[in-house]
Parts: sequence; C-alpha cells; structure tokens
Amino acid sequence: MSTLAPHRLRFGVLSTARIGWTSVCPAIHASRNAELGAIASRDLGQAGDFAKEALIPRHYGSYDELLQDPEIDAVYIPLPNSLHLEWAIKAAERKKHVLCEKPLALTVGECLEMQAAADKSDVRLMEAFMYRFHHRTQRLLDMARGGVVGDLRMIRSAFTFRLTRPDNIRLRADLGGGALMDVGCYCVDISRRLAGTLPVEAQAWSTQGSSGVDTQFAGSLRFENGLVAQFDCALDIERREFVEVVGVDGTLVASEAFVSGPGGVEIVERHGRGPETRHAIAGEDPYQRMVEHFADAVLTGEPVRYGVADAAGTMAIIEALKRSAAAGGRPMPVEDQVQ
Ligand SMILES: NC(=O)c1ccc[n+]([C@@H]2O[C@H](COP(=O)([O-])OP(=O)(O)OC[C@H]3O[C@@H](n4cnc5c(N)ncnc54)[C@H](OP(=O)(O)O)[C@@H]3O)[C@@H](O)[C@H]2O)c1
Repeated sequence: MSTLAPHRLRFGVLSTARIGWTSVCPAIHASRNAELGAIASRDLGQAGDFAKEALIPRHYGSYDELLQDPEIDAVYIPLPNSLHLEWAIKAAERKKHVLCEKPLALTVGECLEMQAAADKSDVRLMEAFMYRFHHRTQRLLDMARGGVVGDLRMIRSAFTFRLTRPDNIRLRADLGGGALMDVGCYCVDISRRLAGTLPVEAQAWSTQGSSGVDTQFAGSLRFENGLVAQFDCALDIERREFVEVVGVDGTLVASEAFVSGPGGVEIVERHGRGPETRHAIAGEDPYQRMVEHFADAVLTGEPVRYGVADAAGTMAIIEALKRSAAAGGRPMPVEDQVQ
C-alpha cells in the first residue's frame, strides 16, 4: 500500500446549511486539492437531496455516521454557532481535520477546548473566516501598516443587513445568534488585524430584539497606543459593509469589505482634498482560497495560517464587548487568554 499522502483532501460536510450550499461546497468542488466525499443532515432525505444536487457521492442521516466514514479526511462544519464546540471535538476525536465556520465558538474557553482536542488527535483546526483570504483584505492590511496614510488613529467599520425570516438561527439565543456574533465579528476581526494587536478596553451598547438576541450592536475598542476602533452591526438595518482606516495623513476605504461578490473590488485612498486614488483588486473566490489553504496545510503537514490565537483573540474582544453592553456601556478590559 502506498504511504504517499493523497493529493486531494476528502471533505465531509456536517449539515445542509445554506452557506455550504451557496459558497463552500462549490468552492471545494472548484478547488485544486480537495473534494466532497459525503454530506450529513439530521434528516436523511434532506441529505440525499443535497447530495444529488451538489454532486456529493455519499450521504448520511446523522452527523455521527459521517464521522465514522473512513474515506473522509476532514469535515467542514457550518452548524449554528452553539454546536461548533461539540462537533469539532467529536470530529477531532474521530481523527478528522476540522474547518469550522466563524465565529469558531461561543467563548475563548471553547476555542481552547477545541484546539486541545485537535492537538490531542494531531489534526488541523481552522476557523472558516473566508474574508481573511481575499487579496483585498491583505492589501488593506499592507497599505495601512506600510504607512500609506501615516500613523493610524481611527478604524471605523460596519456590517449590517436585514433578516427577513423569523425562524433564522441568527435570531436564536440558544444557538449563539445575534448581530455581534454573526456580522459584528467581521468588524472586530478586521479592527484587531489592522491594529496588529488586541485592544486593552472595549465599550458597547446593544439593542435586544424580541427573540432575546442583540439585533443591533455598536462598540468601541481602545488600543494601548491610542488607536480607537468603532463599529456597528445589525440584523435589522439595510445592507452596509465598509472599513475605513484613518491615519494622520489620509484615509483608506474599502466598501463591501467582507462578503464581496465574484467581481473586482477596490480600496479608495484619500489625502485631504487631493484627488483620490482607486486601487483595483481583481475578483476572486475567497472561499476557494480558504479551502485550498486548509487542504494544503493538512496534506503537507504545515500549520494553518489562522490558528486558535486568531479565533480566540477575536473572541476575547467579543466577550468584553458583550460584558460592556450587559453593563449598560461600562468599559471592560479585554483579557488576552492565549498569548
Ligand atoms: N463565512 C461566511 O460567509 C458565512 C456566511 C453565513 C453563515 N456562516 C456561518 O455558518 C454557520 C451556519 O450558518 P447558515 O446561515 O448557513 O445556517 P443554516 O442555513 O441555518 O444552517 C444551519 C444547519 O445546521 C443544522 N442544524 C443542526 N442543529 C440545528 C438546530 N438546532 N437548529 C437549526 N439548524 C440546525 C441544520 O442542518 P441539517 O438539518 O441538515 O442537519 C441547518 O441546515 C454559522 O456558524 C454562521 O455564522 C458563515
């Protein structure tokens, strides 16, 4: 029997989630180094329908059954946020590598538990935060850190959209829903990445919807060097998506900053009243780039680019923001529990 590593990572998908259907399964199909081996649903018929439509060879009526499939190397987990912990750990225990949707878990403690399970079984674990894999994100980081607009003073960002279905998982507190967890996490993640460090303090206000989750959330982060990041997110406001980086010499603005479509995008650079420069970035599929990176890491034994420190750092900020909102906006320290 050959001991050579297979050339393609064989994925199993835990659930018939919408994001798997629209974005990640097509990305796995299109990838150069991964393929879809099986899908599982709590409903066998639904798994069968999905498998047929998405051209997946095997399907199962429970997630457990898929984890027992020896022809599956890795799982992609697009379950409601509150179920990421349980299924990432079960998958790791079955020696499956884990690509798990954002936010990785509900708390820093859960992120660390998941990583401990992955380490114990010697499998890779990565948060499926696809926007990090878009070239535009890297270009924005390079420009901001490279001094294009001088010393950074402010970061402003927003991610809002209007949810129309009342039965959506984002409106369920017991499933880890809410605006901050669903879309605010993008604003928090890009802010700390641009700052290059974790903030020391967080302050926030939230509006609770009738289902018990935050439907609107606004927060501020203070970094040790005086940099401030402000953001807002919502599940009941028309779609808005942007990041603005403010330096002493100018600004950089990325619109559609997180979920850009397949077309080209741009970063707009402005200095005072001078002419603006529009930096064009070619269209690409960040989901495919994410899948290919993850598969490369598994197949070559290299570490994943975004490990638990990335997920847990962002989650530490989210936890501090939640504490502040619960205390009516009192500033709360951000506790770095990883580095
Ligand atoms: N990266 C991105 O661009 C992106 C975009 C959207 C969402 N997400 C993330 O992906 C995850 C899923 O989001 P989604 O909008 O795709 O979810 P969704 O369409 O509601 O799907 C969630 C799936 O989880 C399964 N499930 C298991 N227990 C459940 C329960 N108690 N209630 C409801 N569903 C349950 C269901 O599959 P079965 O019935 O087949 O078992 C369901 O189809 C979340 O973590 C979200 O944050 C990421």
